[in-house]
Parts: sequence; C-alpha cells; structure tokens
Amino acid sequence: MDQTNDLFEIIRSTRSMRRLKADPVPNALLNQVLEAGTCAASGGNQQNWKFLVIRDPAIKAAAGAFYYKGWHEVVGPRYRAGGSAPGTSQESFERMLAAAEHLADHIHEAPVWIVPCLSGPRGSGASIYPAVQNMLLACRALGLGATLTTLYLIHGAEAEAAMGIPEGYHSYAILPIGFPRGKFGPVRRAPLAEVVYDDSWGKAWSAE
Ligand SMILES: Cc1cc2nc3c(=O)[nH]c(=O)nc-3n(C[C@H](O)[C@H](O)[C@H](O)COP(=O)(O)O)c2cc1C
Repeated sequence: MDQTNDLFEIIRSTRSMRRLKADPVPNALLNQVLEAGTCAASGGNQQNWKFLVIRDPAIKAAAGAFYYKGWHEVVGPRYRAGGSAPGTSQESFERMLAAAEHLADHIHEAPVWIVPCLSGPRGSGASIYPAVQNMLLACRALGLGATLTTLYLIHGAEAEAAMGIPEGYHSYAILPIGFPRGKFGPVRRAPLAEVVYDDSWGKAWSAE
C-alpha cells in the first residue's frame, strides 16, 4: 500500500527509503509533512524550531558533498568493518549498506530536503526529533520516501554553512524526500522478548 491512514501500518512500514525518483514533490504534500512536524511536542512547548526546505540544486550539491565525504571517509568503512544489525540477516544488512551508499552518492538528487533546526547551542535534539519522526510518518502515510540522516554532521559546520543556517541555530538532520523507487515494506527489528524487561532488569517481557 503506497498511501495509508492506518497508524500502526504506517509505523510498521516507515523504513528508510534511500532510492528516490527525481519527480518534484507537490507543495500540498510538503505542507502536510511540515504541519505534522509542527504538531510534535517540544520541551515547554517552546517550539524553538525552524524547518529549512531546500530544493535549490546548487545548495543540495554543496551540502551533499559533505554528506558524501562523511559516508565514504568515515561511516561506510566503519559499518563495513562491523557485523549486521540486531534482527537483520547479513544479507539484508548488506542491502542496507548498498542503499546507504547509493544515498551518499545521490543525496543531492533528492527533489527536496527538510532540514529541522533548533535555536541555541547544540543539544540532545530531544525537542526536535519528535517533529522529525512525525514528518517521517507523514511522508510514509502520503507515499513519500524519506530517511533520517545525520552523518553529514561529521562535517556539520561546513554543511550548515553551505545550507545557509545562521549563527544561533543548529540543524539536527537532513531528510531527503521524494517518491520512492522501491516499495514500502515492514521494518526489521529484534523481537520484544530481546529488548523489553518485565519489572526487573534482565527478566524478559512475556505477554503470555
Ligand atoms: C539518529 C539517526 C541517524 C541516522 N543517520 C543516517 C544517515 O546519516 N544516513 C542513512 O543512510 N541513514 C541514517 N539513519 C537511518 C538508519 O540507518 C535506519 O533507520 C536503520 O538502519 C533502520 O532501517 P529502516 O529505517 O529502514 O528500518 C539514521 C537513523 C537515526 C535514528
């Protein structure tokens, strides 16, 4: 299902969609995504956020070069040296790495980026990531592909300068968004029994 309003179906299938078509994203859809972002909670409801929408190819190319550098010099080699992620086979981990590399090479070709920012010194991002997740879920609901990316922060100062983010603000992600080339499918995660404890640490949760 490309579009759905079933919240749990949306949650279970909001995967990183790293291979995107170049077709532009209509403003009506972007508005819905941005509105979902601004519905999120922030500490004290301060909403110290700005959302920079970037469609200008020159800006995406300039900032995307730092993403490319971060992936090829640091993050790609690090993941390749490690094992697969919990709940995923080696094969699907390798597919994820190939998709991540594709994104690193093509992030500037995503038709639109949303760059969520907060004012003040760089912090945990606890007051912006709820908005980020809302936007990812909204993209999924509308049939748009997106990925939460942060690896550009390895060269964060340079990337933020390329995006024109002023002093006093920091970005917390780049969300490259577009219509996906592939199909949405279920996320792959470790089962509850491995990650949920019941009353005492280490006692596996069992719903029975
Ligand atoms: C804090 C955070 C940072 C991430 N940064 C990147 C990134 O820079 N590049 C990327 O391709 N994916 C990035 N991801 C996406 C994760 O790799 C992805 O969500 C994870 O592999 C699970 O895959 P799925 O989203 O397809 O279920 C990030 C996710 C989170 C939560």
